Amino acid sequence: MSPQNIYDDPAFFAAYSQLPRSTQGLSAVYEWPAFQRLLPPSLTHRRVLDLGCGLGYFAREARARGAGEVVGVDISERMLADARARGGDPGITYVRSSLESYEPGEETFDLVVSMLALHYIADYSTIARRIFLCLVPGGRFAFSVEHPIYTAVGTSAWHRGPDGAPAHWPVDRYRDEGERRTKWFVDGVVKYHRTIESYVNTLLDAGFGLIRIEEPEAEADWVAARPAMADERRRPPFLLLAADRPA
Ligand SMILES: C[S@@+](CC[C@H](N)C(=O)[O-])C[C@H]1O[C@@H](n2cnc3c(N)ncnc32)[C@H](O)[C@@H]1O
Repeated sequence: MSPQNIYDDPAFFAAYSQLPRSTQGLSAVYEWPAFQRLLPPSLTHRRVLDLGCGLGYFAREARARGAGEVVGVDISERMLADARARGGDPGITYVRSSLESYEPGEETFDLVVSMLALHYIADYSTIARRIFLCLVPGGRFAFSVEHPIYTAVGTSAWHRGPDGAPAHWPVDRYRDEGERRTKWFVDGVVKYHRTIESYVNTLLDAGFGLIRIEEPEAEADWVAARPAMADERRRPPFLLLAADRPA
């Protein structure tokens, strides 16, 4: 089955482009404070691969932190065109490819990151093994995905009480891994649900050593600025993992 490229859907892209994540970058990214805790202490001269790089915010940030070279891979031509329009940097190479077909080579990167892209991938274990091989010994894989508590049902919606306020978040079919079709800006957005067990054990089975797990809640200043964010701590929206290829 060929991967979906929903970010090139004009209606989807127009809506996604208006998100704070798209207009303001990492400072407006909910999981960014926690994501930084997954990163190695220094990126200086590091070779970095960003899988599902989108608009290139992390690629530019990595370069600003001294990375020698960043390769950003994404299936969406619109996302990559926007990333390229945000400034040429000879140290960043954007590659249009699905993650499923991208071959990163062996021992070519010090750090592989992926922010909110791997829940679009049906075959996570093949990608995890490929990432392991493309890292140098001692290299780091750090990624975020939509949390399995969030993806289990697939409707991505609170159950609301009579007053319209969120009553609870439905969790069901937790162990039924696989495709979920949701509405997010447009109908028919395909995501893949996996258990936490699968996210972690697939890394261990590929040979990685687990470094860190984060289920971030919104920082206090975020909640102050955006009160609706308080509901995010009632169920985790994102799961973040860091794992190392043993040295
Ligand atoms: C939620 S966006 C995240 C973008 C960026 N990493 C960020 O954190 O802002 C997900 C990105 O993954 C890309 N993507 C989704 N499925 C993909 C696939 N099968 N292969 C490559 N890229 C994919 C989308 O095109 C999109 O740019």
